[in-house]
Amino acid sequence: MEQQKRYGHFDDEHREYVITDPKTPWPWINYLGNEDFFSLISNTAGGYSFYKDAKFRRITRYRYNNVPMDNGGRYFYINDGGAIWNPGWKPCKTPLDFYECRHGMSYTRITGRKNGVEASVLFFVPLKTWAEVQKLTLTNQSNETKTLKLFSFEEWCLWNAATDMENFQRNFSTGEVEIEGATIYHKTEYRERRNHYAFYHVNAEIQGFDTDRETFVGLYNEFSNPDAVMEGKPRNSHAHGWSPIASHYIEVTLQPGESKDFVFLLGYIENEQDKKFSAPQVINKEKAHALIARFDTTEKVDKAFAELNAYWDALLNIYKVRTGNDKLDRMVNIWNQYQCMVTFNFSRSASFFESGIGRGMGFRDSNQDLVGFVHQIPSRARQRIIDIASTQFPDGGCYHQYQPLTKRGNNDIGGGFNDDPCWLIFGTVAYIKESGDFSILDEMVPFDNQPGSEVTLFEHLKVSLNHVINNLGPHMLPLIGRADWNDCLNLNCFSWDPNESFQTTENVSEGTKAESLMIAGLFVVTAKEYVKLCDKIAKHEEGERMQKAIDAMIEAVKKHGWDGEWYLRAYDFYGRKIGSNECDEAKIFIESQGWCTMAEIGADEGMVAKSLDSCKKYLECEHGMVLNNPAFTKYIYEYGEISSYPEGYKENAGIFCHNNPWVIIGECLAGRGNDAWSHYAKILPSYVEEKYQTLHKVEPYVNCQMVAGKDAFRPGEGKNSWLTGTAAWMWYTVSEFILGIKPDYDGICIDPCLPETATDYTVQRKFRDADYDITIHPNGQQKGVKQIVLDGTPIEGTVIPYSSGHHTVEVTM
Ligand code: GLC
Ligand code: GLC
Repeated sequence: MEQQKRYGHFDDEHREYVITDPKTPWPWINYLGNEDFFSLISNTAGGYSFYKDAKFRRITRYRYNNVPMDNGGRYFYINDGGAIWNPGWKPCKTPLDFYECRHGMSYTRITGRKNGVEASVLFFVPLKTWAEVQKLTLTNQSNETKTLKLFSFEEWCLWNAATDMENFQRNFSTGEVEIEGATIYHKTEYRERRNHYAFYHVNAEIQGFDTDRETFVGLYNEFSNPDAVMEGKPRNSHAHGWSPIASHYIEVTLQPGESKDFVFLLGYIENEQDKKFSAPQVINKEKAHALIARFDTTEKVDKAFAELNAYWDALLNIYKVRTGNDKLDRMVNIWNQYQCMVTFNFSRSASFFESGIGRGMGFRDSNQDLVGFVHQIPSRARQRIIDIASTQFPDGGCYHQYQPLTKRGNNDIGGGFNDDPCWLIFGTVAYIKESGDFSILDEMVPFDNQPGSEVTLFEHLKVSLNHVINNLGPHMLPLIGRADWNDCLNLNCFSWDPNESFQTTENVSEGTKAESLMIAGLFVVTAKEYVKLCDKIAKHEEGERMQKAIDAMIEAVKKHGWDGEWYLRAYDFYGRKIGSNECDEAKIFIESQGWCTMAEIGADEGMVAKSLDSCKKYLECEHGMVLNNPAFTKYIYEYGEISSYPEGYKENAGIFCHNNPWVIIGECLAGRGNDAWSHYAKILPSYVEEKYQTLHKVEPYVNCQMVAGKDAFRPGEGKNSWLTGTAAWMWYTVSEFILGIKPDYDGICIDPCLPETATDYTVQRKFRDADYDITIHPNGQQKGVKQIVLDGTPIEGTVIPYSSGHHTVEVTM
């Protein structure tokens, strides 16, 4: 095993991860912004910004998979008498005397020191603001007067991030800018159909600027040695076409001990059609001036930053645990909840693995994301549910993805992923339990966004489950369609053509028989929730109808979905078993074990316990549970993308962190707290952080989608960090099933499932208008609440009835 270096550490008090070596094994990034305006920022200040949609409104340019990796971002160059450096080390890579990057809750602070000068930059997007603030503080820590030449740098994207990277015959002629004082405006395409522009401003007098990239950098140079910076001389270039940028030039003199702040502002503005221009060809800058005025002093910026911190204080006060185990507490109280906000905002659109142009918001992804987020801002989750449901079709099927800007279903990918509809129930039920707001069920919601097609949201839930019931195969199990949760199990795509997409090609879908046990389990879990909901709102007949469908599904699984030691995964197009002991490879899959144990199918017959044992025996390894075992060693034409991956990666026996929690919940429901905990700790970032920063490679403060599995070349290597359903599932699992605090329609249900070694812990939970201080005494028990005392009085059962105000709860197991 290679030497495991450390690149940083947690600072729980400040809710930060502190990176102390800029050469992390991969860029370690953070997200800025919580609504509308967003930025990605790496530990060396790489990354980009966009408004709402990373494809259609990309504000600054970013080149993915660059050499070197992560080149391009918001850069400050300091020329101190010929010594040229950046506070974030890159792009010049001049060795620094000190470097530190602190990634916090929606902000990042990067500090560098060189030759007695400190440059510290605080990056954040203020609340309700369409701009990124960059507060640069320069301090002279030496004994001599310093005269510094400071250059800022941003590169504009020509708005559509996809065409920006391909349509050069046009792009090199369209770029336009305006310069006014210390503000550089980017107005490409504003003359025609765009009603938006961007600007880059600094609240200081500038001594020069550049807006043409090649003039600033020099055609044969790189970001690490731009001509203007090397010579200490701006060119005052005015971009006409080619590649517009924004760079300010400022001369700064600092006495020993003196410090100066500069507020840089990267803003985005939209104007009404008839107010676009203030004079022919001149953009109307009124709104930009107003935005600039909001952040033109250090005091105003500090106030906005304090507001952002207060916002996070409030969000993170909703659920707070104290177990005495720092590694658990910091994930539950800080990082897991933070990642849930990020996945809620971004779905799978923009990360350092998702280019922001490929995928918008996923139907299933977003429904899951909101379950991790709903306790924080229920009203936003509510709107999200309506948006998602609006992309459904009248038969319950739905678009697999939609664009955040237009909220319209994405035709390129279309529908036909037969698990998708069930997730709408998962999301909606979580929202109602958290908020108590049943009125969402009466909201009128269209199909496929067609005006006039509106029905109630409840009706959408109904057609969702009907879609499963109406699409059963020969074993009375759900037809899989293009794929279920596993996008790569493409049982109706038979492709020998590398130019075809596995997910949208269906060569012989006529007469298909491919069925999914994962959807069967998902259906039972979500339909049971639906039945409870029907009871709650007195739709008894509808509840009974669905109960019959559930019973039938359970029978079908027991009869046709059990392989002896575990649940089968699927039946293929020809009706042959997948995920069976009879198969040569991939004898067992995790998805059906997770969902069928969560559904508790065949629990009385011992199926659940056997399935969970088989997960331990065949799927588990040091780094978590793999998706299938053994891995596929060759491409199987009938299975699709899954077998296209080399062994141990992604859907072919990678540790797909996303579905480990399903098995963990299965363990919790079965009362096996020791097993639940040991599975959980294996993929909990704080435990991985302690052991494997080099091997794991990606950010140690959040979960990644996939860790290379036991069949891979480098087991334990992480990929695809940040945007993954893992965030919400880890949260749902630990908050509700391990620590056992479950929101329910009438109150909070308390039902922990813990390792025997667990000691007393407390949870502070805000719930609607109430505040609960809960203390749990596990007494060495893994499961089973003996008694709950609410405000001094013992209560019956495990549900604390909701009533507003402050309450204390003592729980004995
Ligand atoms: C990705 C997708 C998700 C899918 C999973 C498994 O995480 O975002 O929708 O379920 O891969 O294929
Ligand atoms: C690929 C990936 C899978 C992802 C899908 C999204 O199939 O392997 O993880 O969900 O693309 O389109």
